[in-house]
Amino acid sequence: MEDELVENAERYQMLMQNSPDMILLQNPDGRTYFVSPHCYDILGYTPAEIMELNIFESIHPEDLEKVQVAFGKAMKGEELFEFQYRISAKNGMTVWVSHTASPIYIDEKLDSIQSNIRDITDQKKVEQELIANHQALLEAEQKNIETVRMLEQSAKLSSIGVIAAGITHEINQPLNAISITTDSILYWNKQNKNILPDTIITKLNRIADGTGRIEKIIKHLRSFWIDKAEESEAIVDINEAVRNSLSFTNRQMQANGINPIIELTENELMVKANSIQIEQILVNLITNSIQSLKKMKAKKDKTIRIKTSLRKSSNKAILEVIDNGSGFDEESRKKLFEPFYSTKIKGEGMGLGLAIVKMFVDKFDGTIRGKNNKTGGATFRVSFPVIDNSVN
Ligand SMILES: Nc1ncnc2c1ncn2[C@@H]1O[C@H](COP(=O)(O)OP(=O)(O)OP(=O)(O)O)[C@@H](O)[C@H]1O
Ligand SMILES: [Mg+2]
Repeated sequence: MEDELVENAERYQMLMQNSPDMILLQNPDGRTYFVSPHCYDILGYTPAEIMELNIFESIHPEDLEKVQVAFGKAMKGEELFEFQYRISAKNGMTVWVSHTASPIYIDEKLDSIQSNIRDITDQKKVEQELIANHQALLEAEQKNIETVRMLEQSAKLSSIGVIAAGITHEINQPLNAISITTDSILYWNKQNKNILPDTIITKLNRIADGTGRIEKIIKHLRSFWIDKAEESEAIVDINEAVRNSLSFTNRQMQANGINPIIELTENELMVKANSIQIEQILVNLITNSIQSLKKMKAKKDKTIRIKTSLRKSSNKAILEVIDNGSGFDEESRKKLFEPFYSTKIKGEGMGLGLAIVKMFVDKFDGTIRGKNNKTGGATFRVSFPVIDNSVN
């Protein structure tokens, strides 16, 4: 028996000298009794070193469990085909190997297990590159889907516009009636030394808040319905638009203890646009800043800076709305201009403000970017091509 084994080993050694594989012969108890010299080329270990080594310690931790299970089966005489895993070479480099184990039976008794281990690192690299390419393709496809989705969204926006045009008119009148009646009762109460009980006043204020909210929503919806008369473009002074938009937003800023800082260029800043829509851009940006600051109850120096400037190098009019509010997280940053994206509670935000802003900015060949400030809060920067005759 002993002679036979020695003879076997010698025969294998001869046969396997030229094989590109590393060949191992093991007893069913797992003891290695032969290792072909190719182990040096693959793993940098001499056969003697491999015999000493606990091979499991060199196997990549992520592959270890499945290798242990497979080895267990092989030692029981099961055939193992092209089993792949990572192993660490003597120099620390990771080598991908493909392992085939075949049982050797002598007199119907499991005598040895022969393992052929092949270096497939290069093949794996190619495979991984293919996978990466495939992944990139998938991502590109995903982006395409995203674009189509955005287009569908804008189609949705146009239909909202049509509906909005219809309902705005119908709702506005009764809404005005409610709003004016509520305001006049509150005014009357003030003039009459607050004779109405507090509970009634609280309820009236709630009605006033509610109608205010409806008015806001209608205003938003209306922007989708662009009246032919409104659509005309003219030469608009951005500074003038800032001043006009402040007349809409000043009261809200005051009510929330926000200090507006206005820094406008000395001269007019002319762009080709529609004055109402430029004002809507501003009102939406300022409203977002107000809402962001409103959340910060404890904050003291709440400010919104509205700044215009002329970038001479590219002939652009720059409009910035800078607040020191909450800013936004990474997920919001990606979705800021998506229609119906809002982090606000139901009723406070529809997620349409910035979608409208983007629609108008695009229309006037402008660009818009929203970013967080290093010192907290957010900045929205809009740029438009400036009309040549604006001198600053
Ligand atoms: N100045 C800002 N600071 C912090 N977050 C902002 C600011 N502006 C916009 N955001 C974020 O972007 C989201 C989308 O803004 P957008 O104006 O489109 O919708 P909205 O304000 O939620 O609702 P709507 O404008 O329709 O009332 C907001 O919900 C908010 O999370
Ligand atoms: Mg908004």
